Amino acid sequence: MNTPAPRIWTTAASAMAVIVATALVVRHSLDNAASPTSAAPEAAAVTAGDGDSFAKRRAGFPPLAALPKLAVPADNPLNPAKIELGRFLFFDDRLSGDISTSCASCHDPRLGWGDGNALSRGYPGTQHWRNSQTVVNSAFYAKLFWAGESTSLEKQADSAITGNLAGNGDPEMIEERLAQVPAYVTLFKEAFGADRPTYLLVLKAIASFERASTLSLDSPFDRYMSGDQTALSESDLRGKAVFEGKAGCIQCHNGALASDEGFHNTGVPENPLFRRDPQRQIALRFQFYTRGVPEETYQNAVGDLGLYFTTKREADRGKFRTPQLRYLKYSAPYMHNGVFATLEEVVDFYDLGGGHGPGKSPLLRPLGLTASEKTDLLAFLESMSGSEVAMDPPRIPPYAATVEATDGEGK
Ligand code: HEC
Ligand code: HEC
Repeated sequence: MNTPAPRIWTTAASAMAVIVATALVVRHSLDNAASPTSAAPEAAAVTAGDGDSFAKRRAGFPPLAALPKLAVPADNPLNPAKIELGRFLFFDDRLSGDISTSCASCHDPRLGWGDGNALSRGYPGTQHWRNSQTVVNSAFYAKLFWAGESTSLEKQADSAITGNLAGNGDPEMIEERLAQVPAYVTLFKEAFGADRPTYLLVLKAIASFERASTLSLDSPFDRYMSGDQTALSESDLRGKAVFEGKAGCIQCHNGALASDEGFHNTGVPENPLFRRDPQRQIALRFQFYTRGVPEETYQNAVGDLGLYFTTKREADRGKFRTPQLRYLKYSAPYMHNGVFATLEEVVDFYDLGGGHGPGKSPLLRPLGLTASEKTDLLAFLESMSGSEVAMDPPRIPPYAATVEATDGEGK
């Protein structure tokens, strides 16, 4: 990644990037307009100084809580036909350019609704440079993706369907394809009262499916916070105290979602897989271009710039949205680049004060956790996962049968 890209490639990509970047600027300014104000700046947060009491350090952060009832947007209320339609579409390869890749290709229910790899697969001919996230409980976020680039499930589905590294699909082509599937025509009618399938409604149906069917609400932690005192073990409870106190996890992983939805640089190390794979480097460089990163940065930067891609502020390099902590039992590996295979590795990482490198959050510092504190912390993290959100892939509705050749034709 240190060697400059060959000139021909650079030139061709620049021309392409101008077009894509223009489109993205429009989309992202829409996103920003709709975005709630981003999280409190780190400086405003309580610093985990050595003399702080647990109580003092905890103060000022929204307390952990059971997940609330999910808020559904007024312009896309749930109904059973919509959820059913969204379920089919989530598993339907025909939303992708070459009918090879559905959402479920990278968000497989059997793999924690991710793809199980440290770095995600990509649309054929590409490999992604980030880890594929679980979609479980993502309906609770106001900002989606590792660096929070998208502000609703509907917008996120649009990025996923059309994005060159994901579905690489074409909205008009998708509408034509779906119109040839009688079961879909019926479902669009039932779900939306629509005369024909439209791309906008595809996005709404997929988001509805995610809001209704990819939730995990039954963790021991949620049961405990809802009043079942027996749901957490002694060790889980000690781990909760470490989480909220000595380890300071609560500074960022707070509220019902265990995420402040703020952006922080924890100094996660680079995944060596990235350097070894030219396709992933191409994907990252493509991201640099499409997000309009200045040429100078493009030539010199080697890693994922996180929030910087959206804001272009130097201080935002390497910042990522704090992820939720439900469903971790099923969604390994961890972090934006999947560099940690286990939760033990994650806890060891934080115990050492996070990673190195410029711009790391001042909220992270070596913790000096004892072996039993680590065990308890892990037990607590595991208590935030409930039963598996299992789902068999549905039988995808076929295209209309082609007209049979009649006598004298086609024989
Ligand atoms: C080729 C693999 C791939 C495909 C196909 C794909 N995704 Fe993803 N998905 C990813 C990756 C990788 C990320 C993280 C990307 C990032 O942060 O830039 C992601 C992120 C997400 C998130 C954000 C979760 C969070 O915590 O913020 C949601 C929701 C999601 N995908 C849903 C979908 C849906 C719906 C589809 C189909 C329309 C889809 N994805 C298709 C790989 C894929
Ligand atoms: C300064 C804010 C901050 C603090 C403090 C913090 N985290 Fe995080 N956490 C993050 C961010 C940001 C990420 C995503 C980082 C990335 O992918 O580069 C993350 C990622 C994680 C993940 C991976 C989740 C996934 O889906 O891959 C786990 C698990 C986690 N943190 C647990 C903890 C625990 C346990 C503590 C306390 C020991 C803690 N965190 C302290 C901000 C924080």
